[in-house]
Parts: sequence; C-alpha cells; structure tokens
Amino acid sequence: MFGSLIVFFTCYFKMEVATAVLAWAISSTCRSLSASNSLWGICPRQDIAAELNARLSPGAEIFLPGSSGFSQATNRWSVRDAPDFNIVVVPSVENDVAEIVKYANSQDISYLAVNGGHGAITTVGKLQGGIQIWLDKLNSVEIADDGKTAKFGGGVLSKTITDALWAQGKQTVSGGCECTSLLGPGLGGGHGFLQGRHGLISDQFVSMNIVLASGDLQTIDETSDLWWAMGGAGHNFGIVTSVTSKIYDIQYPDWAYASFIFTGDKVEGLYGAINEYLLKNGTQPVDIINYSFFFNEPSIDPKKPLIMFFILQEGVKTVNPAYTEVFENLGPLATDGAGGSYPDLPAWTGLSNDAIPCQKPGLVYTRFPIDLQTYNIAAQRKVYDMFASATQQTPALNGSLFLFEGYSLQGVKAIPSDQSAFPFRDNNLLLAPTISYMPGPPELHAAAVDLGESLRQVLHEASGREELHAYVNYALGSETEKNWYGYDEWRQARLKALKEKYDPLGKFSFYAPITLT
Ligand SMILES: Cc1cc2nc3c(=O)[nH]c(=O)nc-3n(C[C@H](O)[C@H](O)[C@H](O)COP(=O)(O)OP(=O)(O)OC[C@H]3O[C@@H](n4cnc5c(N)ncnc54)[C@H](O)[C@@H]3O)c2cc1C
Ligand SMILES: *[C@@H]1O[C@H](CO)[C@@H](O)[C@H](O)[C@H]1NC(C)=O
Ligand SMILES: *[C@@H]1O[C@H](CO)[C@@H](O)[C@H](O)[C@H]1NC(C)=O
Ligand SMILES: *[C@@H]1O[C@H](CO)[C@@H](O)[C@H](O)[C@H]1NC(C)=O
Repeated sequence: MFGSLIVFFTCYFKMEVATAVLAWAISSTCRSLSASNSLWGICPRQDIAAELNARLSPGAEIFLPGSSGFSQATNRWSVRDAPDFNIVVVPSVENDVAEIVKYANSQDISYLAVNGGHGAITTVGKLQGGIQIWLDKLNSVEIADDGKTAKFGGGVLSKTITDALWAQGKQTVSGGCECTSLLGPGLGGGHGFLQGRHGLISDQFVSMNIVLASGDLQTIDETSDLWWAMGGAGHNFGIVTSVTSKIYDIQYPDWAYASFIFTGDKVEGLYGAINEYLLKNGTQPVDIINYSFFFNEPSIDPKKPLIMFFILQEGVKTVNPAYTEVFENLGPLATDGAGGSYPDLPAWTGLSNDAIPCQKPGLVYTRFPIDLQTYNIAAQRKVYDMFASATQQTPALNGSLFLFEGYSLQGVKAIPSDQSAFPFRDNNLLLAPTISYMPGPPELHAAAVDLGESLRQVLHEASGREELHAYVNYALGSETEKNWYGYDEWRQARLKALKEKYDPLGKFSFYAPITLT
C-alpha cells in the first residue's frame, strides 16, 4: 500500500536513445539561437558538429537544440541552476570522450559529463554555452572470467548493473535509485543498500579509464596519486569512461520490508525508538536499513505532514518482529510489508524507474544535506513543526520531503577514513530536506532556500558540532569545500595539490569544484 502511495506515476519518460537524429544538418535552428560565447557567435554549431563528427566513431551521435534527442539528453531532474548546452555529443566508444575533450580544449569550449541527469548542485549552472558529453551509450557490463570484478561503462545506470549482475548470481554496491548512474554517486563516495556489507560504491573500484583535462585517456588504479581523490572528489578530475569494480556472489538474495505511516504526534516516539533499537549509536545491525521521510498527504491529513518509515532487512522473507514490534506499538496510521529479493528494493522504497524521483517533470529540487551521528529528539520535533507550518503557509512547497536515511554502516566504517577522499565515514545518518516546487517567482525560490537552510540549521545546532558535514552528492552548492570534502587540513591540501597537477585550468570545476587559490 505504501508502495502505491509513492509509486503512482507510470513510466512516461523512457531513456531510449533517439536514433538517427543527426540534427547537425538542420541549419535553421542555428540562426534563431542566441550566442553564449564568442565561439558560438557566428552561428558555427553546424561547423562544430561537423568537425566533431569527423573525429568520432561511427556510432557516436550529435544533437543540436530543437531536436528531440537534444531535449531528451538535456532533460534534468531539477530544472533550476541547470547547465546550458549548445550541443550534445553522445560518445559510443571510450576514445570518443578523449576526442571531444581535446577538440573542446582546442576551441576553448566548456564541457560537462552528464549521466543520469540527477546531479542538482547549483555549481553546474555556471556552465553556460558548452558541450554536454552524454555518457548514455557507454553502458556496458562485462563480468570478468574469475567472477570477482566487472567492467562497467562510464554511463551505466543502477538498474542495468543490478539486473545484469543478478542474472549471473552476482551483485555489487550501487545507488538505491534505478535511474541514477554508478559514477555520478560513486565519484562522491556513493551510498547504497549493500554498503553495510561491502562499503561505499567507490570502495569497490579496482581500476578505471579516465579522460583527463589534457584529453589523455589513461588507465589508473591504486598506484596512481589520483586514485585517492576519485573516491569522494572524483567529479573534479576527469571523465571516467569505464570502471572495473569488485562484485560478489549473492549470499542473501532475500530481502523484506516493513513500512509504517505515523502522524506527527509520534515524532519523539519514532526517532527515540530508532535511536534506541535500530541505530544503537552507529552499531545498527548489518542486515538492517531504515529510512523515513516527512511528507504531506492532504487526503489523510490536510493540516500536518505524515511520516513514512521503512525498515529493510536482508536475508529474510519478513522483517523480524524484534525490529518491528516497537514501531507497531507506537500506533501507526497504517503498516505494510512484503518479502522479495534484492532487485525489489528500489520499488519498495519509491526509487524505481517508474517512481516519482526518476521522472523529470520540470520541477525544482533543492536539498540541504547534513550527516549526523544520531537523532536529536527535540530537534526532530522542531524540524517537523517547521516543515509543517512552512508547507502549510506556502502550499507551492507542499510537495517537499524531508529525508532521513539510515543505511547500515559496517562495510563503510571498516575502511580507514584516510584511504579515500570521502571524508565522513564516521557519520551514521544522512538527513536532507528536499524542497521541491514548480518554477515560480524569485520569492518562491527564496522561501524554499530559507526553509531548507533553517531546517538544516536546527539540526546542525542540535548536533553540538562545529563542523557541518554535507554529502557532496546531495549538496545545494552554497556550502564550503570543507562541508563537502572534510575539514582536515591535509585533505584540503591534498585535493588542491591534485587539482593543481591534473586540472589547473578548472575544466572539471562545475560539480562541487575544488578551487585553487
Ligand atoms: C532520486 C535520487 C536518488 C538518489 N539516490 C542516491 C543513492 O542511493 N546513493 C547516493 O549516493 N546518492 C544518491 N543520490 C544522489 C546522487 O548521487 C546524485 O544526484 C548524482 O549526481 C546522480 O548521478 P547522475 O548520474 O544521475 O547525475 P548527473 O547529473 O548525470 O551527474 C552528476 C555529475 O557527476 C559527474 N559525472 C557523472 N558521470 C561521470 C563520469 N562517468 N565521469 C566523471 N564525472 C561524471 C558530472 O560532473 C555530473 O555533473 C540520489 C539522487 C536522487 C535525485
Ligand atoms: C557512541 O559511540 C561513540 C563513538 O563510537 C562513543 O564515543 C560514545 O561513548 C557512544 N555512546 C554511547 C551512549 O554508547
Ligand atoms: C498542496 O497545496 C495545494 C493548494 O492548496 C493542494 O491542492 C494540494 O493538495 C496540496 N498538496 C499536498 C501534497 O499537500
Ligand atoms: C537507521 O539507521 C541509522 C544508521 O545505522 C541509525 O543511526 C538510525 O537510528 C536508524 N534510524 C531508523 C529510523 O531506523
């Protein structure tokens, strides 16, 4: 039942590659488009497209504005602060990416790798007039003969990975959402349902092919000085055209979930019980994941948000009553549950291809993430009340959610923190107000940012920490580099030195950029 509450959109947006749209031949579009930089100014899109086309493999595609391929490729999850592209190039072999980067460098044109299109950090909006390198065709999955690793194309999406591996009795850590890529999340660390067993997405990387800012296509592994940075700050250093990652035999095919809907009077009871019975000060059992969010559903309660709470358990057909009883005793409005297998998890949690988060309906989504150790009950009450009154006062924001993610942690904590650029292995929880709305007047955006920042501020103050830890892949964009990459001086220095060495001109400085001073 809960599933159907969230998953009521059908799959109207299918990521099919538009075929045979060599839109560069259409000359009329060019004249009607405004120039964003001098190079595009004399209407040279067709020339650029033709020059690129000559350098690329036969399977590569080029889309110009006005074509359906262009619209499909540039459609994004969040429409605000979106990058603006003059041309989309779809490489079909890894070396195409190198050719595009070399060509763009020679012409002084900006570029950005785009994968699932769910990157919503405002910094990407600084790219105005450039080339979108859409990795959609680099979507291969090749399992090694020994069954211990697989080579994934740089544009492979989560569901492709899950399904291809599952068919061979294998699995690996990927993001929970079917429509996000492996590398979008993975280059920032990457959380997933299997992290309690195996660590972050980036902890699985064994080697990768990467196109550097110079346009060189190199294979790197742990022997490269760049390797450390790729597991947490990787978006800053190149375009990964393929990655070889660890994969595992499926040990626990079964999973089950129990879900509960609570009314707002249960905030203290719910988060207190989560702290006490599930989180246990960061020692949550390895087979348990919990996940909750505040949301409005006026047909159930027109005045107050509800709380949706999930417990996911690995290796069972029903969630162990030892975990669910305390939540049932709190008096939920509704409960649900089912058993199935690992590939069912996205559908259960509202993250499958046909669910709302995988659609791109032209909304603005802004997130205000904060990583924490534990729930502060008084702060949970305060943010609930704030979320309730703000979404009542400004109905345009009432589709917003407030996410509370409690993945299992053992695999993440088992890896020493200094081993990669991902800085926040000691945190237990990912919290993020996700404020969404139809694009509107500036006051609406200001209200959205004010709400998100205020909610985050309450949680931050209640944490008693000076440091604000903000998962880079959920970040708004206004945070500091310390918020994204950690406060340790050595981390900041190491990242800057690598940036200076590998990308001194900031070619890859649109997504959560490391700046050189
Ligand atoms: C519905 C939803 C569910 C999510 N679930 C999870 C989750 O389970 N775990 C998690 O950790 N995060 C999750 N996130 C956050 C997610 O990590 C980011 O939104 C991420 O940017 C999505 O990747 P993408 O490929 O869809 O986005 P894109 O916008 O295509 O990519 C984001 C950025 O990554 C870079 N990039 C992408 N591919 C490459 C590449 N091959 N080489 C170099 N750079 C590259 C580019 O800079 C690009 O701007 C989720 C987000 C949403 C919206
Ligand atoms: C929780 O864990 C932290 C760090 O692991 C420890 O310092 C603290 O004492 C623990 N608190 C409780 C109540 O067990
Ligand atoms: C949001 O507000 C509008 C206008 O008041 C209302 O029609 C809609 O049902 C509300 N939606 C939610 C999810 O609260
Ligand atoms: C969820 O898991 C996290 C991480 O282990 C834990 O800190 C949190 O208390 C749990 N919360 C819920 C709602 O179960």
